[in-house]
Amino acid sequence: MKKLLHLLLVLAATSVLAQNATLNLIPQPVEIQQGTGTFTLTKSTTIGYNKAEAKFAAEMLARHLNTPTGFNLSAKTDAAANIQFNLNATPNDKIGKEGYTLEVTPKGVTISANQTAGLFYGMQTLLQLFDKSIESPVKQAVTIRGISWRIPEVKITDYPRFGWRGLMLDVSRHFFPKEDVKKYIDEMARYKYNVFHWHLTDDNGWRLEIKSLPKLTEVGAWRVERAGHFGDREDPKPGEKATYGGFYTHEDVREIIQYAAERNVTIVPEIDVPGHSMAALAAYPELSCTDEKVYVNPGTQFADWWGNGTFSMRVENTLNPSDEKVYEFLDKVFTEVAQLFPNPYIHVGGDECYKGYWKNDPGCQALMKKLGTHHVEDLQGYFMGRLDKMLQAKGKKLLGWDEILEGGISAGATVMSWRGIKGGIEAAQMGHDVVMTPTTFAYIDYTQGDPTVDPRIYARLRCQTSYNYEPVPDGVDAKHILGGQGNLWSEQIPNMRYAFYMTYPRAWALSEVFWSQKKDKNWDNFSKRMEAHFQRYDVAQKRYSSAVYDPIVTTKMDGDKLVLHMAPEIAGLDLYYTIDDVMPDNFSPKYTAPVTLPSGPITLRVQAYRNGRPIGHLITLKREQLEDRVDW
Ligand code: ACM
Repeated sequence: MKKLLHLLLVLAATSVLAQNATLNLIPQPVEIQQGTGTFTLTKSTTIGYNKAEAKFAAEMLARHLNTPTGFNLSAKTDAAANIQFNLNATPNDKIGKEGYTLEVTPKGVTISANQTAGLFYGMQTLLQLFDKSIESPVKQAVTIRGISWRIPEVKITDYPRFGWRGLMLDVSRHFFPKEDVKKYIDEMARYKYNVFHWHLTDDNGWRLEIKSLPKLTEVGAWRVERAGHFGDREDPKPGEKATYGGFYTHEDVREIIQYAAERNVTIVPEIDVPGHSMAALAAYPELSCTDEKVYVNPGTQFADWWGNGTFSMRVENTLNPSDEKVYEFLDKVFTEVAQLFPNPYIHVGGDECYKGYWKNDPGCQALMKKLGTHHVEDLQGYFMGRLDKMLQAKGKKLLGWDEILEGGISAGATVMSWRGIKGGIEAAQMGHDVVMTPTTFAYIDYTQGDPTVDPRIYARLRCQTSYNYEPVPDGVDAKHILGGQGNLWSEQIPNMRYAFYMTYPRAWALSEVFWSQKKDKNWDNFSKRMEAHFQRYDVAQKRYSSAVYDPIVTTKMDGDKLVLHMAPEIAGLDLYYTIDDVMPDNFSPKYTAPVTLPSGPITLRVQAYRNGRPIGHLITLKREQLEDRVDW
């Protein structure tokens, strides 16, 4: 009986293996050659490395494997271990600084790279070759279901398309404790991102300890506690204590920098000035034009948006560019930032700076006169010019949102293009380096599914749209495009599990935009691999959004008739709908072509099905909602 059970186990393992022969790697590697054999990890497998610098990746692999397998693997200096990490003695020019080769044969696994970054990435790819059970946070038994620590024979050569593969996390609108920040970095590194842009200051909280300006965190890091939709919240009540928030000490920052560096992630700190400075002004109101006493904003509406990106502020959130005190303040801030962060770049923000208070301020008017300009926008150029010199004096390079182009910037400044791609094109044509982060493709804080399901945010961004992004605009010299970045603003993101929900799968899509070869991009192929990673996240108990299963519903007008257009985001889904106020099932009308809707107060209900089973959310839209989305 025991023998029979053993035989069953072997058969089950073999059949699972046959199914697992499809590789579900994200981001897609450059070259893959598959064999027919397998390598099996056992408790006796040895893990070795040829040089001390290779130890970290080897040990990290052992740690990762030990949890789900229950083995007690460790890594040692070796030249012929079963799983071997080798730093190349002679550089392999093809794979550059971050690339690797990974060879799996029935006898063993070899990961080779020119630098430790490549070994780390080869290790991440190796982990993805294992069954999803390898993601388990607890020990998995080898069961009749066929979990077996086997991986397919394969030879992979891989290297990135872009050197800047970033994700930005806004820790001002909501504070994420140190351990959460590490989780975010750990996950992005698994998908071969290498830049963590840390948005450390904004109107809703100053999150970085500045020892020479203690009020920045004593006052600026805390706000009154509020729930509900960010932007619709209530002002502080008289005498109400500011209890929500937090900040990172220098020690925390050093720890996070080290943690990130071990994962080939460099950190770009952002201090967002001269706008978005309400938290700083809550601590030091004398730095604004009005000296108005402000509080750290808990998510109330404090600006009015007039369309086309124009807006006015109800409350001052801008530093005064004509006041020398402001530059003394900034010099203190950037001295500590420059000492803490080894990255050559410091991001100085520069976005959405309201100039209304500047216009009416006598000091700003005098400065404009001195500069010989009638344009208040030129004060931003002056301000950025001062910062540029300040950073250069500290051995750093200025990076800012594309508004920094408006008042003129120095030749060495790098531009992050967010308001579409225009700023990026303009900057690159002027010879600046550019990081592409356009809202339309890279703002992963936007609603990813139907806005009747996912909470309301400023705009919408489907995973497929992110996937289809091409970071090098036509007519631009690719050498100026350093790469790209997904941005996670956290107005509506109160905790790390939800940050994961908003980030993935769109950051998987973007990882392929920034890492993989343009010619290899294919949404249908990616979406199959994405679904395999959904399963891996399920095992790991990590959160992600399954909005790709929800129908995309838009409308058009044909004369005075409303015409319904629907589409699934991924292949293999059928959409069934009703407009007669009954719940749909897979015997309801199937959507095959645009539908001219009858007049009257109809409600659309549409549900995706796969293989006869409902999948994703039921979308319900009344006529007014359908009318609202004409030509979305
Ligand atoms: C931005 O989204 N304000 C850079």
